[in-house]
Amino acid sequence: MVSEYEIKKQICDIGKRIYNRGMVASNDGNISVKISDNEFLCTPTGVSKGFMTPEYICKVDAEGKVIQAYAGFKPSSEIKMHMRVYKERPDVKSVVHAHPMYATAFAIAGIPLTQPIMPEAVIALGCVPIAEYGTPSTEEIPNAVSKYLQHFDAVLLENHGALAYSDSLLSAYHKMESVEFYAQLLYLSKQLGGPKELSDSQVQRLYEIRRKFGMTGKHPADLCPNNKAGLPSCHSCGNNCGGNCSTAKADNDLVAEITRRVMEQMGKH
Ligand code: 13P
Repeated sequence: MVSEYEIKKQICDIGKRIYNRGMVASNDGNISVKISDNEFLCTPTGVSKGFMTPEYICKVDAEGKVIQAYAGFKPSSEIKMHMRVYKERPDVKSVVHAHPMYATAFAIAGIPLTQPIMPEAVIALGCVPIAEYGTPSTEEIPNAVSKYLQHFDAVLLENHGALAYSDSLLSAYHKMESVEFYAQLLYLSKQLGGPKELSDSQVQRLYEIRRKFGMTGKHPADLCPNNKAGLPSCHSCGNNCGGNCSTAKADNDLVAEITRRVMEQMGKH
């Protein structure tokens, strides 16, 4: 079993990566790891995540209350947001919050990441919705994020940044990196005349690969109401993502398909 001290060191390493890659400025961002049902390690508030040592890391309970912290360190001001993710997603073992430049620009412009433009983003993330703006450190952000938690493994925070979570610290960090890479490519391809999106059938094949690999986490590939109805799943519904392919469209398509099948059956008899 990995010791608590070792996990603290890993949090410091990920903090360095986030800082060195420019995914946060100054003292921004926060990271947490679940170590048992009622014990979580988290970064302290108000320090640069690029220069932490294990003594900086605080331990809190499921309510975000301090179990252990060295003098001068208090848990992240966003601990409530982290705790909401753990509460509503028992599969999650780590949460990473950052302000990566391109993803945050999309969050500020109010544009969710829903266009299927590259295989890796389609397989790993599906689409990335925007949770409505909330004042940092209050219950407003956890409340805004809550409705997306059952459908996605990453969300943008309106006018603020991005949040990613997964079943390990490294995987949560990788999701954040993927969100930023996706946002950057989407931004650049928009400058080059607009992205050529993958076709529906190309997206379906990528979803098949995701299912075959048995990848963990939530994803429109597994949750799309079309898919549940035995129809091809759309890229961006996954419920509430704000993408072009709304649930309403999915419903219309479903009604059309049912009508077609009924008509077919009637023709046969
Ligand atoms: P903390 O330093 O309190 O974790 O806050 C940083 C931040 O990015 C708030 O959104």
